[in-house]
Amino acid sequence: MPGRILLIPDGPAALTYAPELIARLRQRKYTVQVAPTAYPGPSALAFISELAWTTLSGHPCLPIEKLNDEEFRKHDLILLGPVTQQVLEIFSRGKALEYLQKAARPLIALPARLASDEPMQTNEFKSIMPENSILSQGDETLEMGAMGTLKITGIDDLLCQIDATLGKNDLKALRILVTAGPTAEDIDPVRFLTNRSTGKMGVALATAAALRGADVTLVHGPLQTAVPELPNLKRIPIRSAEEMHGAVMERWTQMDVAILAAAVADFRPDHYAEQKIKKVDGQALILNLRRTPDILAELGSQEKRPFLIGFAAESDDVEINALAKLRKKHCDVICANDIRKPGCGFAADTNQITLYSPDKPPMHLPMKDKRELAHDILTHALADLKKS
Ligand code: C5P
Repeated sequence: MPGRILLIPDGPAALTYAPELIARLRQRKYTVQVAPTAYPGPSALAFISELAWTTLSGHPCLPIEKLNDEEFRKHDLILLGPVTQQVLEIFSRGKALEYLQKAARPLIALPARLASDEPMQTNEFKSIMPENSILSQGDETLEMGAMGTLKITGIDDLLCQIDATLGKNDLKALRILVTAGPTAEDIDPVRFLTNRSTGKMGVALATAAALRGADVTLVHGPLQTAVPELPNLKRIPIRSAEEMHGAVMERWTQMDVAILAAAVADFRPDHYAEQKIKKVDGQALILNLRRTPDILAELGSQEKRPFLIGFAAESDDVEINALAKLRKKHCDVICANDIRKPGCGFAADTNQITLYSPDKPPMHLPMKDKRELAHDILTHALADLKKS
């Protein structure tokens, strides 16, 4: 059995989200017991009966007022959600939280917020929940009919977080730097050069590493994907290649591993125009571009560098180009993908990667969701490091 989970669902979101979540957890061989919220109003018990919770989970439904440290201790993980922000706050003031702290069990809080509401702030969450609690907050839409639209972490993302939380803390001692996303190179106050990267692969790697216990620093450009709030995942947002270079150079000496997954712009405008450039009828605009610093190559040339993992997104001769990059940039591993393949590359949710390392045959990883693939990349790419 991979683990025992105590689910504390609340509110109307429990109705649409929890049955599928419980089914998926049971498919993964987790033991699930449910302690639904019960109060006059839209509690979990108001939407799904005790008998239905028992049937869904296959275990007797636990009356919420019976929760104490002894009950919490019978489980490996407490999953508080879907829950409204108000109930999260009530929970944080109640006796249950004291018991939870006493039982020293990990907690994932899963708020379901109105689509029109801003996500909860990390500081706000940290101020009310125990230090090592995880705030799982995503952008999946739950249509609740007359009750409106809610936003919540998608079940796939949540399962990755649960798997990792209950998995072995195999990367615990490692300090890992990850770069992700595109960079934006400003031309003038309104225009900039960028690329199609969304940051999904880099964010998935940073998240997976943090969930497996590493101390992660994520240096990222403008992202089109959410970054989960994890206590050991620090975000350094930047905009340009120059800024990413500065942020990495400032930190690499304190890192054991650097995973450079960002799609750094190779060129930036030679000149930044302080005022918006005016267009002139009939006249072309010629931009002079200059090269940005190659962060990966610069790290590779350092004498005492961290274990270095680079990426190569190629549209032809993948193997030849990946191996050339491995040598030229002095990496320990290059993760190469063929961006012509369907389901690969920028903006896709899936990817297929081949790992190239010096003196080793290439390792082809199967096509997978980027969040799952991130775990495979870490397991294989860091295998040598863990041995040494
Ligand atoms: O040479 P190419 O851009 O294909 O190399 C890709 C790898 O190099 C990626 O790991 C990317 O993050 C890194 N890179 C970098 N700085 C640049 C360009 C690429 O770190 N200026």
